Amino acid sequence: MVVLVTGGAGFIGSHLCEKLLSEGYQVRLVDDFSTGKESNLTLFKEDLEIIKGSIIDKSIVKTAMKDVEIVFHVAAQASVSISVKDPMYDATINILGTINMLESAVEKDVDSFVFVSSGGAVYGNAQVIPTPESSPREPVSPYGTSKACGEMYVEYQARVSDLKYMIVRPGNIYGPRQDPFGEAGVISIFLDAIKRGEPLHIFGDGKNTRDYLYVRDLVDLIVLCGENPQNQAMNAGTGKETSVLHLVEIMREVTGKNPQVIHDPPRSGDARRSCLDITRANRLFGWYPKIELQRGIQLTWQWIQNK
Ligand SMILES: NC(=O)c1ccc[n+]([C@@H]2O[C@H](COP(=O)([O-])OP(=O)(O)OC[C@H]3O[C@@H](n4cnc5c(N)ncnc54)[C@H](O)[C@@H]3O)[C@@H](O)[C@H]2O)c1
Repeated sequence: MVVLVTGGAGFIGSHLCEKLLSEGYQVRLVDDFSTGKESNLTLFKEDLEIIKGSIIDKSIVKTAMKDVEIVFHVAAQASVSISVKDPMYDATINILGTINMLESAVEKDVDSFVFVSSGGAVYGNAQVIPTPESSPREPVSPYGTSKACGEMYVEYQARVSDLKYMIVRPGNIYGPRQDPFGEAGVISIFLDAIKRGEPLHIFGDGKNTRDYLYVRDLVDLIVLCGENPQNQAMNAGTGKETSVLHLVEIMREVTGKNPQVIHDPPRSGDARRSCLDITRANRLFGWYPKIELQRGIQLTWQWIQNK
């Protein structure tokens, strides 16, 4: 069975490709390599069909969609700060790119369409924590707005066609291959700083909480969603809140090092708390995260050290 992964050369997309290959799928990926890397694909590149190009290019997407049964739409402009500086660019990739993917998928009558959205960005400053999928979309950044809009286009297409879909809303994903030089991905950023003997910069008091999910647990759930589309949204997290201070404590234990911690002023727009209710994924698919935070940090530390 041919499956298409957009953004397959990125952090999450590359793990998804690897998982799909291990399950016997024929995997095609489309990526413009704007943030994706060839090195993310080193271990399994020969088994992939790689199309270099943008999801906003109609002819590229049309070619990529040939004989595809499941579409995993992972590609995105995924930086909040870029979205604030250049909302038109963000909207072009995240909204127009998603519309292009959807139109082509409907034209080719694919069996299933998975849209990777974002839990933290779409719910914004949620009233209910852990936040269930029924909570309102209240984004507080252009990135969250474009993701919410992408979700609404998916829902719209399903209303006017036979499209079967799932919307996956990940929490804070971490693990090997996450870029430690990005603005997000605190686990990767901190472990890389520890490796280089540099101090850890915490924005604010370090009591902000997030829901950290190991990337392999996420891709397990994404594949389940692709195989069993039920036309609804699905949170992907752990249901547990972890503060930045607690992360640092775990990193001290895992690495055996004692990095200096510097508190910088809080970043405006950062939510105080974020955590996802994962009852739905558990009820529908029996899915639950298998990799505990300490183990996931160990695996990420091993990767950072060998990089
Ligand atoms: N990392 C997280 O914690 C997290 C959390 C929630 C949601 N997400 C979502 O997961 C998805 C993957 O994020 P990631 O962390 O792996 O980021 P990433 O930057 O590593 O991956 C994004 C991929 O999309 C590709 N891409 C970007 N624009 C493209 C375009 N126009 N055409 C084709 N390819 C394009 C990039 O080259 C890259 O390979 C994104 O949709 C992101 O919004 C990530």
